[in-house]
Amino acid sequence: MEQELEEFLEGRTKLLLANYVWDRAPRAGEVFFNPFIKTVRDLSVLVCKAYGKLYGKFTLGDALAGMGARALRVANEVNECEEAHMNDKSYLAIDYAKRSASANKIINKCVFTNYDACYFLINHEDRFDIVEIDPFGSPSPYLDCAFKAIRDEGMLCITGTDVTALCGVYRRVALRRYFGYSLNTEFNHEIAVRLLLGLSALMGARLDLGIEPLFSHFTRNHARIYFKVIRGANLADQTLNSLGYILYCFNCLYRESSKGLKGSCPICGSSLSFAGPLWLGKLHDENFIDAMLERCPQEFKDAKNIVKRAKEEVNLPASYYKLDYICKKLKIPCPKVSKVIEELIKLGYRASRTLFDGNSIKSDAPIKVIKDVILKLVP
Ligand SMILES: C[S@@+](CC[C@H](N)C(=O)[O-])C[C@H]1O[C@@H](n2cnc3c(N)ncnc32)[C@H](O)[C@@H]1O
Ligand SMILES: [Zn+2]
Repeated sequence: MEQELEEFLEGRTKLLLANYVWDRAPRAGEVFFNPFIKTVRDLSVLVCKAYGKLYGKFTLGDALAGMGARALRVANEVNECEEAHMNDKSYLAIDYAKRSASANKIINKCVFTNYDACYFLINHEDRFDIVEIDPFGSPSPYLDCAFKAIRDEGMLCITGTDVTALCGVYRRVALRRYFGYSLNTEFNHEIAVRLLLGLSALMGARLDLGIEPLFSHFTRNHARIYFKVIRGANLADQTLNSLGYILYCFNCLYRESSKGLKGSCPICGSSLSFAGPLWLGKLHDENFIDAMLERCPQEFKDAKNIVKRAKEEVNLPASYYKLDYICKKLKIPCPKVSKVIEELIKLGYRASRTLFDGNSIKSDAPIKVIKDVILKLVP
C-alpha cells in the first residue's frame, strides 16, 4: 500500500515525507528533515537567486541532499537553476526527494543518485557551478572532493553544525577538524564561521584555488559559508594572506586581529587567549549582498533581516561586542544598541549591528571607548 506522506509548503515548494527526525541522525526507516530552519534554507534560495542574477544559468550538485529540501527549493524557486543533482546515501531520503520533485513538476531538471558524497562529487562528469555540502556535524571530510567538483568561479556552500568544536567548547577538536583553535568567547559564532572559511582557504590553496566569501552567517546552530572558488596560484597565495589569529583578553574584553601570537593584553596586562589560524578577511561581498536584497521575495522576512545586517557590517573588522555581556561585567543595565551605535558614529568611529547577534555591535572603536560610551548612556 502507498505510504501516506506529510506535506510541508516551504517558500513556493512542496516537500513530501514521512518518518522524519531532525534532532539526531536517522535510523533505518527514517529520514532527516529539520522543519525549524526554514530561514536557513530561505537564505540558500536567496544566495542562489543572487548567483543566478550575477552569473546566469547554473547547475547544482547537492552531495548530502537528504530528502532534498534545499536542492528542491533551489530547483523550484530559482529560474536560473538548469539542473539540480541530489545525492544521498539514504535510498529512502532520495525516494522522498523524487516524489517531491514530481509534486512540484520539476522532475525534468532533477537528477537523483545514491552514492557516498565524495564518490558523487569526484565522479560527476562535468564540474558543477554550485556545490552544496550540508552534513551532520563537520563538513571537513568532504571539502577536498567539493573543491574538485566545482568549476572555476563556481560557488561552494558549506554548513558546519559541530558547534561544540567550532564555538570553542572543545578547542583541540576544532584544531583537528579546521586546522585552527576555536575560542569560547561572547563572539564565538563569528569565530565558527571564520574557522570554516579558514579551512576552506587552506584546502583550496593546496589545489591552487583561491576563495572569495560571498555571504556568511550563523543561524540556529548552523554556521554557513558561501564562497566563490577562483583558479590560480596567485589567487591562492592572496587567499592565504587573509589567515591569522584573533587575540582576546578575557579580563578586559580587548581583542585584536593579528598575523601572529602575542603574550599579554596591551590594556590590562592579563594573558591573551587566541583563536585561529582562521579567516580574517571579509565575510560578505557587497555586490553579492545587494543582488540578494534585490531578489528577496517579500515573504522571506527573517532571511531579509539577516542579509540587511550583512550589508551594514560588511566593511567592519573581525569580532563583535555583545552589549549585555559588557554591561554584566560593568554591573550596569544595558543601553539600546541603536544608541551605542549612534554615539560611536558621533565620535567618528564606524559602527553597525551584526547578523551574528541582536544585542551586539561591530565597530572599529577600541573596547575602552565602547565602555565609556555605554557608561555615558546609562545614568
Ligand atoms: C544534515 S542531513 C542533510 C539535510 C539536507 N541538506 C536538508 O537541507 O534537509 C545530512 C545527510 O547526509 C547523508 N549522509 C551522511 N553521510 C553521507 C555520505 N558519506 N554520503 C552521502 N550522504 C551521506 C545522510 O543520509 C543525511 O541525509
Ligand atoms: Zn585586557
